[in-house]
Amino acid sequence: MINKNYSALKESYLFSTVARKQREFASENPSLKIYKMSIGDVTLPLSKEVVEAMNKAVAEMGVKETFRGYGDEQGYRFLRESIKEHYRSYNVELDEKEIFVSDGAKSDLGNFTELFSADATVLVPDPVYPVYVDSNMMAGRRIKYIKADKTNSFLPMPSEDDAADIIYLCSPNNPTGAVYGRKELGKWVDFALAHGSVILFDAAYEFFIDGDLPHSIFEIEGAKECAVEFCSFSKTAGFTGVRCGYTVVPEKLVRDGVSLNKMWLRRQTTKFNGVSYIVQRGAAAVFADGGKGAKETIRYYKENAGIITRALDSLGVFYTGGSNSPYVFFECPNGMDSWEFFDLALKRAQVVGTPGAGFGENGKKFFRLTAFSDRETTMIATERLGNLIADVKKG
Ligand code: MLT
Repeated sequence: MINKNYSALKESYLFSTVARKQREFASENPSLKIYKMSIGDVTLPLSKEVVEAMNKAVAEMGVKETFRGYGDEQGYRFLRESIKEHYRSYNVELDEKEIFVSDGAKSDLGNFTELFSADATVLVPDPVYPVYVDSNMMAGRRIKYIKADKTNSFLPMPSEDDAADIIYLCSPNNPTGAVYGRKELGKWVDFALAHGSVILFDAAYEFFIDGDLPHSIFEIEGAKECAVEFCSFSKTAGFTGVRCGYTVVPEKLVRDGVSLNKMWLRRQTTKFNGVSYIVQRGAAAVFADGGKGAKETIRYYKENAGIITRALDSLGVFYTGGSNSPYVFFECPNGMDSWEFFDLALKRAQVVGTPGAGFGENGKKFFRLTAFSDRETTMIATERLGNLIADVKKG
């Protein structure tokens, strides 16, 4: 009767395990302060523009003439227009019908897999955001891994052995922070086109990119025939608790003679009733003034990342990320296993990070820190971890 595929999953989701270990340590050591640098949860408040837009929307909902019930199926037009404009700033032209507003990238990344048959094969990089793996395991799909490690700067490129129906890519990457350039992304697009694969492209961290790197896979020629893009306001504008994201399903994306855009519309209209008007008004305000408020917040987080990476540099520790990403992924000292380092960091420094093993086999000697904490926590946690790393290295 029950879905037996669930029994193949790890007992709990990565961040639930980390949170449980943290709670247990806190209850055994009530006098110790814990420095949280694990889950990528934001700490700065919503920007002034977002709050004002949401307040105005709340007021409208209290007046008969401006009250609204169910919203437009794919999201309010004003928000889809703003998203379209945002893409235009990357020279990507979208049709409004290609944009679907949702409650966040995580749910869409998981739910989108419903459009594929159970025997579709899936390719994921290792290490990887666990949602891609777990949601396909729940459906009983065969998962293949492509190795991301120091030898390829955590940016794997496909070879013939990697052919699969569904390919997950995340750039800037969670957990490694590595970012694909145009040429490399172009090779993935060519590979997907040649094999009839669909790339599920997670662009949740695109706002963190500085310089000439692709923000969207649709900046790459041919991507509209082989890719779907998932994005979110969570990390861009502090919406982890507010909940809003968007998915772009190009009209040109067709497999087995069927439009994935039409399938996704059918799926969403059946199982999802949209995001509240108030939240969508807030989301649209994120793009006001070229995303000025969000960019300021991101600058703060990137300064946090700089504090972490400078400390790692001075210790001679290998890491990726930090410059175009809110994550820093570093090698555990003395080849230590990441869960072992997690326990040590908690016990000796009271710092909670995320063990790389939670993201896959190739992460097992790495540790991820988030730059989303506040400045004080980041500074103290970095200093404590730095001292711990130096001690471990001394042996
Ligand atoms: C993370 O820490 O990897 C993220 O917060 C997870 C997520 O966005 O769901």
